[in-house]
Amino acid sequence: MNGKKAAGIKALDEIREGMTIGLGTGSTVYFFLEALAEKVAAGFTITGVATSQQTIDLAKKWKIPMRTLNEVSTIDVTIDGADEFDPQLNGIKGGGGALLFEKLVAKSSKKRIWIVDERKKVEQLGRFPLPVEVVPFGWKHVESFLVNKGYNPKLRLTADERPYVTDAHHYILDLHLQTISDPEALANELDHLTGVVEHGLFLGMTEKVLVGAPNGTVETFE
Ligand code: A5P
Repeated sequence: MNGKKAAGIKALDEIREGMTIGLGTGSTVYFFLEALAEKVAAGFTITGVATSQQTIDLAKKWKIPMRTLNEVSTIDVTIDGADEFDPQLNGIKGGGGALLFEKLVAKSSKKRIWIVDERKKVEQLGRFPLPVEVVPFGWKHVESFLVNKGYNPKLRLTADERPYVTDAHHYILDLHLQTISDPEALANELDHLTGVVEHGLFLGMTEKVLVGAPNGTVETFE
């Protein structure tokens, strides 16, 4: 057992028959999907709404019934990963590049639960580079603005050194900040920056965090 797997399996306790479930993205969500698929195979009825192509592919492989976000009116609960979370349950997401669809699904959800391992728990956000999703048109000008602000942006690249492209066909500038002293102020600034589609600050966007430890125990923060 590792912490991610422990948290992923524990999240099954939040699921009830007939629910519409937002399905997050990443290596922790993988374990949740694997466990959910076992229940579905045994006849448990749910509907999933994916936050990325990666999750759609897994859901298809494991025969989890799916709808798109536009096909559902509301989502009962979303289970997603996170890259960091602080004592106020604010977080950074988007390490896997799915932040835009994750935020859209989270905003349509009655309840949001993050599943993480212990390494994601921090006192202050910012050690993990903050993903900022930008339109490819003119992205260098957005980058220059962020450089001038001292935010240390780095264009995310693929293994073969091409710009990483999100599911919505945008680029990502990762801000290497080390600490974010005022997450609200930074989120507000990025929300109003032309060319920025979305950013990975998820503030007040989860009700519960399940933190898995390597010994298989799971601690709950809410
Ligand atoms: C995807 O874009 C992210 O928001 C993930 O939820 C986050 O990076 C957590 O990923 P892992 O569970 O793989 O660490």
